[in-house]
Amino acid sequence: MDIDVFTLFPAAFDWFQRQHHVASALAGGHTISYVNYRDHTPLKAGQVDDTPFGGGAGMVLRVDVVEAAIRARYARDPMGLRRERTVIPLTPAGRLLDDALVDELAARDVLTLLAGRYEGFDQRVLDNFVTMELSIGRYVLAGGELPAMVLCDAVMRKLPGALGHADSVVEESFSKALEGAPEYPHYTRPAEYRGWAVPEILLSGDHARIRQWRREQSHARSQRPQTERPLP
Ligand code: 6GU
Repeated sequence: MDIDVFTLFPAAFDWFQRQHHVASALAGGHTISYVNYRDHTPLKAGQVDDTPFGGGAGMVLRVDVVEAAIRARYARDPMGLRRERTVIPLTPAGRLLDDALVDELAARDVLTLLAGRYEGFDQRVLDNFVTMELSIGRYVLAGGELPAMVLCDAVMRKLPGALGHADSVVEESFSKALEGAPEYPHYTRPAEYRGWAVPEILLSGDHARIRQWRREQSHARSQRPQTERPLP
């Protein structure tokens, strides 16, 4: 998979790229490339944003600047780019990212992610250049860089070879294998700690019963909302 990230802050991704599963995906031939809008702006003094028509707080990323960056990268009109690539701007009000959407995106060969800062994109970017807007939750972050990393992280760990154990992405929280439910609880040594014992079945060696128990636990967790735990 080849991912292009358009951003004003490519250095924000330095740490992310060094994460084990990302580094191994990149070593395995997948790519993430960065395009800095500011490097391609047709405006003076590196200008990329402007005040909103009609007034209001904040600055808006300009449509001509986004177009220039896309043309510099792909040498084509951004209007038609989504015929060739999946073009995703990260916006707080976009489609909510979930495991099913991650699977869908992981199956595509080429993604173009558009990160914005300030108050976001001129609406004409969203109306004319993109496949779908994507959000990582109903709260507002200062920019699209963290959401772009969240998306890349979730997608890249699904790519074959990115994780040590191929199985770990099959039966994990929210996966089809667990019918969309959260994952079952895990335990490791010590088998008893401060009087808290590991469920005996996990020590039994009976793999059929363990599988059954895990399915039940996963289902039970999906029925129970996470609430603040009462103090002991
Ligand atoms: Cl994709 N962008 C911003 N700026 N804030 C967000 C978001 C995206 N998803 C949740 N909050």
